[in-house]
Amino acid sequence: MATLSLLSKSYYIVFVLSLSFIGSFPCLDDQREALLEFKDLLFGELMADNSTDMFLGGLETWNSSSECCQWALVECNSQQVTGLKLYSVFPTLGKTSTVLAPIFRIKTLMSLDISYNSIQGEIPGIGLRNLSELVYLDMRGNSFNGSIPLQLFHLANLEFLDLSDNMIEAVLPNEVVGLKSLKQLSLDANFIHGELPEEIGNLIELKKFTVPDNQISGRIPLSILQLRKLEVLNLQNNSFSLEIPADIGSLVNLTTLDLSKNRLSGEIPSSIQKMRKLETLQLENNMLSGEIPTWLFVLKEMKKLHLGGNKLAWNNNLAIKPKCKLSSLSLRSCSVKGQIPSWISNQTDLIYLDLSENDLEGDFPQWLAERNLGTIILSDNKLTGSLPSQLFQSRNLSVLALSRNNFFGELPEINTTSIMVLLLSENNFSGPLPKSISNIHRMLLLDLSKNSFSGNEFPAFGPDSLIAFVDVSYNNFSGKFLRISDSLR
Ligand SMILES: *[C@@H]1O[C@H](CO)[C@@H](O)[C@H](O)[C@H]1NC(C)=O
Ligand SMILES: *[C@@H]1O[C@H](CO)[C@@H](O)[C@H](O)[C@H]1NC(C)=O
Ligand SMILES: *[C@@H]1O[C@H](CO)[C@@H](O)[C@H](O)[C@H]1NC(C)=O
Ligand SMILES: *[C@@H]1O[C@H](CO)[C@@H](O)[C@H](O)[C@H]1NC(C)=O
Ligand SMILES: *[C@@H]1O[C@H](CO)[C@@H](O)[C@H](O)[C@H]1NC(C)=O
Ligand SMILES: *[C@@H]1O[C@H](CO)[C@@H](O)[C@H](O)[C@H]1NC(C)=O
Ligand SMILES: *[C@@H]1O[C@H](CO)[C@@H](O)[C@H](O)[C@H]1NC(C)=O
Ligand SMILES: *[C@@H]1O[C@H](CO)[C@@H](O)[C@H](O)[C@H]1NC(C)=O
Ligand SMILES: *[C@@H]1O[C@H](CO)[C@@H](O)[C@H](O)[C@H]1NC(C)=O
Ligand SMILES: *[C@@H]1O[C@H](CO)[C@@H](O)[C@H](O)[C@H]1NC(C)=O
Ligand SMILES: *[C@@H]1O[C@H](CO)[C@@H](O)[C@H](O)[C@H]1NC(C)=O
Repeated sequence: MATLSLLSKSYYIVFVLSLSFIGSFPCLDDQREALLEFKDLLFGELMADNSTDMFLGGLETWNSSSECCQWALVECNSQQVTGLKLYSVFPTLGKTSTVLAPIFRIKTLMSLDISYNSIQGEIPGIGLRNLSELVYLDMRGNSFNGSIPLQLFHLANLEFLDLSDNMIEAVLPNEVVGLKSLKQLSLDANFIHGELPEEIGNLIELKKFTVPDNQISGRIPLSILQLRKLEVLNLQNNSFSLEIPADIGSLVNLTTLDLSKNRLSGEIPSSIQKMRKLETLQLENNMLSGEIPTWLFVLKEMKKLHLGGNKLAWNNNLAIKPKCKLSSLSLRSCSVKGQIPSWISNQTDLIYLDLSENDLEGDFPQWLAERNLGTIILSDNKLTGSLPSQLFQSRNLSVLALSRNNFFGELPEINTTSIMVLLLSENNFSGPLPKSISNIHRMLLLDLSKNSFSGNEFPAFGPDSLIAFVDVSYNNFSGKFLRISDSLR
């Protein structure tokens, strides 16, 4: 017994020793020095006449008397620094990209995250070229300007590149083909212009390609159909024109296809029905035409379907039986006629519904009032009747837009505080405003103009309310006139 416990104890000691030995591998001197120099470039002035216990977003643990592999935000593989996670460490310092110079001496880096640090100036191409082991490079949310340096496209091991939310003004060059291992390329919200190079089709490992909110023009290159591993394709808010590639459906692994806010024309390609994994299809605000195909509603995984703001036509004679469970649906200006389609009542997961600018008639459906949606937009139709009282009991309702219909009657008592936007302009609502309207402290926009509301009770929002815009003009209010039709803030 005694020997056994002695034995296990010594095993234990050996085990603990070896663990701490692994943890305290001394990091390479030049790498530690590079990191300390980087810290000094960042915070040198700040630390000069101050004690050491200042919070520096994690970099306060970096000092010359400890091993750099034990510092916060540093990743090592044995003695070598392989990762730096500097997400939002110095967001308010307004440094230029020259502060990164010491980092470009750490050639073993595989992962570099310098996102959200408001770094200014051009992307340091020559320095980044030094980091040939890089697999992961996240530079989003800075103020990098100028173009994308060609050296960047020599990082052949790179799998993840995110340059989103900067001020890069560039054409995506055909040298992009150098990034052979790339799985994700994100360039959101820059000033990328020109056309997408055909070479994009050579990045056959790409799973995610996102360039929304840029100024890219021309045709969606056919070579994009070679990206068979693609799961997310987001080209939203650019200037792409001409037709969507007819065979886009061969990208069978796509879960998100967002082509909204472009100038695409032609019909919705029928090949899209091959995309069995599609969850998000956003085609709104283009110039697409033709009939809205019913097979869209047979795609079982579909959750977000936005088709509004095109020249698409709804076939009002077809009864559809959706196989999907939508959470978000926009059929704005799709010439939907008659009552609000009853199949929508079976979409029990719906939280966003936009059927504005159609030819809808009839009453506000009871089921819609009871469904607890977050957003209901039915403006610019011919709906009529009064509003069901359940509508204003809904805990989740944040946007209700019913302007320019033929609704009438008094507003029911409001027993929800979730509403942020309430637009009822140009109907024929009458009677006094419910007092409870002032209890909605989250209300931002309130437009009750051009109705027949009467009485002398105006909404009186408290000092803590968020209200930014109120319009009660063109009604039949009486009593002391209180003009609050303009922006209050
Ligand atoms: C010294 O540190 C304090 C907070 O610890 C800070 O408020 C002050 O601005 C610093 N002084 C200098 C000169 O950086
Ligand atoms: C250096 O940093 C380590 C933690 O990384 C800390 O324990 C030690 O006290 C620091 N030494 C000095 C001199 O600040
Ligand atoms: C980039 O930003 C830096 C620093 O803000 C500025 O000096 C430089 O002129 C800018 N360059 C371009 C091409 O806009
Ligand atoms: C690239 O690395 C070498 C060797 O570490 C270094 O001397 C050089 O300054 C680095 N280049 C840049 C542009 O940082
Ligand atoms: C579209 O992108 C432009 C930049 O190209 C941006 O200024 C604008 O806010 C974006 N629009 C939307 C609706 O996101
Ligand atoms: C599509 O995804 C499946 C499952 O993730 C995967 O097995 C298949 O290889 C992918 N197809 C392509 C062309 O990459
Ligand atoms: C809604 O679903 C029920 C049962 O799942 C079905 O009987 C009914 O026909 C559906 N209604 C519409 C309009 O699709
Ligand atoms: C309100 O919305 C949340 C999130 O979308 C959802 O989980 C919850 O079930 C909704 N509440 C009701 C009463 O529908
Ligand atoms: C208002 O809502 C609360 C909580 O949902 C409920 O208890 C109360 O009965 C409602 N009041 C009216 C007048 O409907
Ligand atoms: C609006 O409602 C009032 C009664 O509340 C009615 O007298 C009037 O004719 C209605 N106006 C329109 C345009 O329907
Ligand atoms: C407007 O109010 C006046 C006096 O309160 C009333 O006589 C008139 O019928 C009202 N007009 C409408 C259209 O409700």
